Amino acid sequence: MTLLLGFDDYLPQAKKLALSLTLPMKQVHLHQFPDGETKVTLPTELPRKIIICRSLYQPNEKLIELIITAAAARNQGVEHITLVTPYLCYMRQDKAFHAGEAISQKIIGKLLSEYFDRVITIDPHLHRINNLAEAIPNKEAISLHATQAITDFLKQKFTHPVIIGPDGESQQWVKAIATPHQWQYTIATKQRYSDTHVAVSFSEKENECDENTALNLTGQDIIIVDDIASTGKTLIQAVIQLQQQKPKSISIIVTHAFFVDSAIKQLNDLGVKNIWSSDSIPHATNAFSIIDTVAAHLKENASQKGS
Ligand code: R5P
Repeated sequence: MTLLLGFDDYLPQAKKLALSLTLPMKQVHLHQFPDGETKVTLPTELPRKIIICRSLYQPNEKLIELIITAAAARNQGVEHITLVTPYLCYMRQDKAFHAGEAISQKIIGKLLSEYFDRVITIDPHLHRINNLAEAIPNKEAISLHATQAITDFLKQKFTHPVIIGPDGESQQWVKAIATPHQWQYTIATKQRYSDTHVAVSFSEKENECDENTALNLTGQDIIIVDDIASTGKTLIQAVIQLQQQKPKSISIIVTHAFFVDSAIKQLNDLGVKNIWSSDSIPHATNAFSIIDTVAAHLKENASQKGS
């Protein structure tokens, strides 16, 4: 029997996963000492296999706590540990842009590979590498997609939305969402000058979903799709550009929602009708779950292995 372990900050999702997999779930308890260190208390009876479900947003303390949890579980005799972390941190720092900058993706990836036998996440930000195994070496490193969950959600809301990608990287998700339903889509070009300064542009050529059809966004319900909303500047700039084409409505759907500072207010002030996100990161915009995607993968994997 496998046991699922959850943490206070991601408990509804851990419970949902346990329910879907019909696994027992117990909680890891954390106590913050006055000096800032954390006491980690695990259940005393652990089986040979465990799944730990915790999302790594605001990750620094969580990483330490997860490592302590994994090491303590091994000390109790656990042989196989899966980490389900729908948002995987430090994946964007995959290159030293300036001398001296740490390539955090490789460092954190290696650390996780030392403590976990299998890591499962949703759409990690992989720009310059082809797959998650390059970041988390020598282990089962599984990167699942939120696109099916996003498509299922959008199908309940719209019949013929136009899907918009705010930058080149978003093309993979936009295509996967739009193509099966023949929804029109278009991809913008983005220039990032700093953490908070980006420029998004839709040129004539980019404003096409195939070689012959120029998209007319006037009067259309348009949905901007992205993997991460951090400062929200990418989305804000996309909305400003798209409004010039007088669509009927603009909605936003992202997998991982940070929307730091006043991002949501700025988007609301710009007249964005809906802002939706998955529950990979707990946020007021959470509207659909990616836990079923994780559960489906684990079930399929278990049936293939006959366990
Ligand atoms: C970058 O390429 C990602 O896909 C997102 O577009 C980016 O992380 C969003 O960041 P921000 O919300 O700060 O513009």
